[in-house]
Order: sequence, then structure tokens, then C-alpha cells
Amino acid sequence: MDQLLVHGGSTLKGAVNISGSKNASLPILAATLLTEDPCIIRRVPDVSDTNYMVQILNALGADVERSSGTVRITAGDVSHVAPYEQVRRMRASICVMGPLLARHGRAVVSLPGGCVIGDRPVDLHLRGMEALGAKVEFEGGNIHLSAPDGLRGAEMDLRGGSGPTVLGTGNVMMAACLADGVTVIESAAAEPEVVDLADFLTGMGARITGAGTRRITIEGVPALHGVEHTVIPDRIEAGTFMAAAALAGEGVTLRRVRRDHMEAVTRALEASGHSVAFNDRGDTCKVNRGGSPSGVELETAPYPAYPTDMQAQMTALLATTPGISVVKDTIFPQRFMHCAELKRMGADIKVDHGVAVVRGVERLSAAPVMASDLRASAALVLAALTASGSTVINRLYHIDRGYEHIDEKLEALGADVERVKV
Ligand code: EPZ
Repeated sequence: MDQLLVHGGSTLKGAVNISGSKNASLPILAATLLTEDPCIIRRVPDVSDTNYMVQILNALGADVERSSGTVRITAGDVSHVAPYEQVRRMRASICVMGPLLARHGRAVVSLPGGCVIGDRPVDLHLRGMEALGAKVEFEGGNIHLSAPDGLRGAEMDLRGGSGPTVLGTGNVMMAACLADGVTVIESAAAEPEVVDLADFLTGMGARITGAGTRRITIEGVPALHGVEHTVIPDRIEAGTFMAAAALAGEGVTLRRVRRDHMEAVTRALEASGHSVAFNDRGDTCKVNRGGSPSGVELETAPYPAYPTDMQAQMTALLATTPGISVVKDTIFPQRFMHCAELKRMGADIKVDHGVAVVRGVERLSAAPVMASDLRASAALVLAALTASGSTVINRLYHIDRGYEHIDEKLEALGADVERVKV
């Protein structure tokens, strides 16, 4: 298991290219199962989550060629049974369910494992599939779905106790593309990754309106064809580097971003006293640390509100921001594993019922810390950038799930980091 050594105290400057979005790539890779034609997807980040999805597509029988960020997939003769061990390893693989059900009229997909950020149910996904006419049964840790007479369009509301579901919206949207009739998804997720998936499906010949709003309408078509598509920039990687620049930067430029996807994070950084300046096209921004940053109140909520995937990174920034900050995660109330590790580095944080109260301290100090999940790991890297001494971050595989070569990108900005194989 690799470790990352971060020697605190360097100043970040220069420019970084943001990679394609992991969370847009995953359902888009699954959507290739909806056609026998070849699909070409560009700017797929080289991270373990997308590698897992490629393995699953291979195991299903698809032909996959990958060269740097471009993936060419031909899902000719694919099975309807997703490989149990691989699917249970990554929650996002649940999004092969909709395409397999639409393609074959049946699908077998393992129940995804939970994870440290909270219980990860799929009841909303199944609500959608049943609304489309599928029968759902459970056996041996697998979900067995069947629709021998094919899927039929339906109206449904996919809201759960914590609001919309991102992958659930994508899963049902994919299944509905080949259903007979019109499907309306109320309380749909509006994340940019859902819009990118809808763009991909439309390029395949699907008829979708309303993506990016809470009400998506899909008019089923008999078949879909191949498409070429470039994935949107990763707004969470971009937010992570913006936070790093606000924490330890002297003017860091981010290239290949989308201003319209970064509004909530930009507002939060500006509210804390930092500056974020986009170019006219909105595809590049320069972040400067503020002269006298101050604490903020932050609450995560479904897009376009502040993203839960940027909660840990902002908490790390606020740990050394003067004043009191209050961070509430309404989507994953348990998503505070990073706080225990930040406290090991000297942070003053009290977590209670999904709310972290952060009192900014002068400076954190190095300690051996443990990464627990993807975004918590990123938070620890950020904290280590300005901590005194050298911080050892263990279980680096968490960060490799969703950040493409983060150590190389940070090094190129002047951070003193080194990956150690142990
Ligand atoms: C996506 O997960 C992202 N993953 C997550 O990012 C992100 O945190 C999450 O959306 C919320 O924005 C990918 O896109 C691959 P949800 P997803 O369904 O779709 C509850 C990262 O760091 N819920 O939108 O699985 C659920 O428990 C990852 O990149 C149900 O109750 O999340 C949560 O409280 C972590 N029943 C809320 O809804 C369901 O059937 C939102 O979950 C599904 C979800």
C-alpha cells in the first residue's frame, strides 16, 4: 500500500490541468452497454474507479480499448450478469443495472457494499426500475431484475430522505431510453454529471429533455447507436485544487474548468476571503489566498448547492482559517472521518450529528494519518501542505480512486510531496 509523504511549508504557484470527471465517466462508460455500436469517450481520467468500470465492462463481454484518456468500447455480445466480486467493490458499478435491464430485459447486479461515508442504499434505483415495469428480487447478495415484456415508460418521483439521487437518476434515465413510451423523472438530480450523461445518451439517439432540472423526460426509442463524446472537467478535482491554492498558494491557475459548475465552491472560497478570477470563457481560473481569511458557515445540499464531495476539503482549509466555521453535511451526515485525523494534526473541530464546528488554529503539525475515503484523503493532503513537519498519509489507494496523478500535479505546483511504496 502506497504512502504519500507531504513536507509542509511549500508555496504553490503555477498552473494545473484539471482532468475529466470521474463521476461523469462512470455512468457514461456504463451507457455504452445500451448499443452494439462502438462508442469513443475522451478525457476519461486514469483512476482506479474508472479502471474498475472498464474491468466490469470487459467481464460482461464488451471489447474495450484504452489509450491514455480515450476509451473505445464495443458492447457486442454482453452478458446480463455483472461480475459479483468486481461490482461489490465499487458502489458506482450499480449503474450497469439500467443499461443491462434495458438491453436484455433482465439483469443481475450485486448489492453494492456500504462505505465509511455512510450507508449507501439503492432503494431509489429499484423504485425507478419497478416503475418501468421490472420485477426485483434478491438472492445471494445479488439483485435480480427482470422485465420479460420489456420496459414501459412511467412517471415517477425519485426523491429520497436526503433528496435526489445522482446515480439513481442516471440509472433510470439509461433504462428509460429503450423503454416503450415516455418516462418522467420527478425530483431528478441536476448535477453536471447527470447532464453530461444525458448529452452522451442524446448523442446515441436518445430523446431526453430537462436534464439539469428536477424534471427529466425521456421518450423511449427502439435502439441507440454509437457516439463520440468528451467528458466534462472534474469539478471536484477543480474544487480540491482551488482549496489547495487558497490554503498554500501564491496565485495558482487551473485550466480546463467550467465556471458554471464551480459556482457554489467559488462562493464559499470568496465568502472566506479568498479570490477566484475566471477568464471570459470560464474555462480557466486563478485563485489567490486572501489577506485576512475568516470562518464561514457551510451546508452541503444537492446541486447547485455546495457539494458534499467538497465538504472534507473545505473543512481542512477552515482548520487553519481564523475564526469559527460551521460545516453541515445534509447528504452524508457521517462524512466526517477526516476530522479525527485533522485533530491528530492539531485541528480544533467538534463533530456532532452531521455538523462540524471548526475553530481555526494558527498552524497544524505533521502526524501519521490514515486516509479513510476518497475525499477525506484529499482533505488530509491539503492539511499537510501547510502543516509543520512531514505528514505521512497512509492507504493512498483511497485517493487514487478519484484523483489522476495528484502527487505529480501537486509537485508541479511546487509542493514537496513524494509517493512511497511500502
Ligand atoms: C454520487 O453518488 C457520487 N458518486 C458521490 O461522489 C456523491 O457524494 C453523491 O453522488 C452525492 O452527490 C458518483 O457519482 C460515482 P446519491 P450516489 O444517490 O449517486 C441517498 C465521490 O466522492 N440514497 O446522490 O451514489 C444516499 O444515501 C463520491 O466521488 C438513498 O437513500 O449518491 C445519500 O444520502 C462519494 N437511496 C443521498 O441519497 C438510494 O437509492 C444521495 O446519494 C440512493 C441514494
